[in-house]
Amino acid sequence: MRIWLLVLAFGLIFVRSAIPQTQSALALMPVPASVQMGSGQLLVDPSFSVAITGHTDVRLQRAVDRFLVNLRRQTGMLPLDMKAADSANATLVIRSGSGGKDIPELGEDESYKLDISNSGAKLSAPTTLGVMHGLETFLQLVEINAEGFSVPAVVIEDKPRFPWRGLMIDVSRHFIPIDVLKRNLDGMATVKLNVFHWHLSDNQGFRVESKKSPKLHELGSDGQYYTQDEIRDLIGYAGDRGIRVVPEFDMPGHTTAWFPGYPELASGPGPYSIERQWGIFDPAIDPTQERTYKFLDDLIGEMARLFPDQFFHIGGDEVNGKQWDANPKIQTFMRAHDLKNNQDLQAEFNKRVQQIVSKHGKTTIGWDEVLHPDLPKSVVIQSWRGQDSLAAAAKQGYRGLLSYGYYLDLIWPAARHYAVDPMSGGAANLTPEESARILGGEACMWSEYVSPENIDSRIWPRAAPIAERLWSPQSITDVNSLYQRLDELSRRLDWLGLTHNSSYPLMLRRIAGTEDISSLRVLADVVEPVKDYTREETAMAVPTSATPLNRLVDASRPESATARHFADLVDAFVAGKAAPEAKAEISVLLRQWRDNQAKLQPLLDKSFLLKEVAPLSRDLSALGATGLNALDYLDRGEPAPDAWKVEQLAFIEQAKTQKGQLIIMVAPSVQKLVEASARLAAPSPSK
Ligand code: ACM
Repeated sequence: MRIWLLVLAFGLIFVRSAIPQTQSALALMPVPASVQMGSGQLLVDPSFSVAITGHTDVRLQRAVDRFLVNLRRQTGMLPLDMKAADSANATLVIRSGSGGKDIPELGEDESYKLDISNSGAKLSAPTTLGVMHGLETFLQLVEINAEGFSVPAVVIEDKPRFPWRGLMIDVSRHFIPIDVLKRNLDGMATVKLNVFHWHLSDNQGFRVESKKSPKLHELGSDGQYYTQDEIRDLIGYAGDRGIRVVPEFDMPGHTTAWFPGYPELASGPGPYSIERQWGIFDPAIDPTQERTYKFLDDLIGEMARLFPDQFFHIGGDEVNGKQWDANPKIQTFMRAHDLKNNQDLQAEFNKRVQQIVSKHGKTTIGWDEVLHPDLPKSVVIQSWRGQDSLAAAAKQGYRGLLSYGYYLDLIWPAARHYAVDPMSGGAANLTPEESARILGGEACMWSEYVSPENIDSRIWPRAAPIAERLWSPQSITDVNSLYQRLDELSRRLDWLGLTHNSSYPLMLRRIAGTEDISSLRVLADVVEPVKDYTREETAMAVPTSATPLNRLVDASRPESATARHFADLVDAFVAGKAAPEAKAEISVLLRQWRDNQAKLQPLLDKSFLLKEVAPLSRDLSALGATGLNALDYLDRGEPAPDAWKVEQLAFIEQAKTQKGQLIIMVAPSVQKLVEASARLAAPSPSK
């Protein structure tokens, strides 16, 4: 009896503590709200079939067709056929309560329940959106084992934490073609992101065909714009995947590309041409003339009809005000209307624009600069300058979105984005009513340094941790689990045609000018592009939209998996907690780096793109040698001499500095080895 109680108690403890681990073991991304593991598995074999019961419509049928295409891709099994199924004996039975809106809307029910046993699977949801999310979860559950392809027996009940989970892509600084956007929409659907925020105009390009004001795209885009037909097609493609499309027309700053066609809208005399550089520029719309608002009424009306979403983004960020300061007519207007500064003038502009947006049936959204008590509470604030502005907006009664901390162009590691929560910082102390105004957030891909070739590698897989932050319960924060699941997700995204992995060797081969890139890859695998805005600060020449994006900094990954793995090994090793094999693995890597310079040298001489890489290669080689020396001291159990330590640490500091706008990410771990080897009471590493 006692033994049985103990077994029962242990069983309970095991089950409780096993839940988070089981969730991560399932490699689902984002982690569902609730997972209960069953026992056994459901085989996914060529007899797999799907039936739709309850509500059906073409959007749901297309979602199921897409699901089957993806399942075929993942498994390589061809004869899957949903049409043969009837509901009684289909492998996967889908029940959708209702179709939901044709074009998804903010706040629709996205929940679903997926119940898988070894005899079949049931997916039920109140709307088609929930079915779509459940199908994505099912695809992520498919694994291979000794019996075949299968999904585990499990009951998942899932719903999002926030209703607005976005990805913004800037298509102005570099034009991003429709096919590239579509594959990224596929990636978004995989991780349950549901808003594509399309940053369509900026100083460097106006990217939408306007029939009312055609000189916008004709003179403002170098011919690189989307036709209205292409836009309607993309909106349909997104809607089919449960994704809303929110257009942004950034104004009154960030508008240089409007002015070659319509210089009369500007606050300065011009002449104007499309901006080729990056940064904040002087040209801004003149907010004091009525013809500005007539023009905006036409444009916003046209675009409000083209884009069906309820929300319309007017930008509003980074107006430097220089053209306003320099224009006597604008200064007279400000005095006449008691506008004390440029913020007041911009608030006046925003008020007028908001009225136009509202007249055309839409709700205004703007970057946090637009926050002003004169604006109606319906306006949504997108915070990019800090989390506090999000809290301030919520306290004043505005709804808000977080993007601060989610800028993918800053090339942060996934874990750093993952740690940013919309309800932390200033938002942690909001009342429940204020908290409810925080709708979610958006990852942002600004495009100064991305092209159709490398944009996927800047978005994926690092957008996925942000997607998880916005979908999963707030308590899901384990970084080790994140990285394990991220690797798995990254491989799954390959099946959708995302090029974040496939473009890497292609770009390296171009840089090397040869097929055998193994030595270049050893180096490329341990470097990362410089972070934050260092790329501007360290540029050898002023970067422009004509600057090629074909260097190692453009090809290399935002986050080095090799460096992360090496750091884990070294941290455990110097703490005396490493597995016996760890030291051997550390030493294999160090030797590979030490010896790589000699292997890479023949390539370095042959390609102009590798000139800037030579110093990095020499540093990596020396870091390998230094690390091996440190291991030797540790092996012998004698502290490394002080003079040696000082010399090595000075070298490592040098090796940590950017070269070719790249950073060698293993230098800090080599430093830890040197420091450990010089400590009197060295850890007793396993020999
Ligand atoms: C922004 O990054 N200027 C919104």
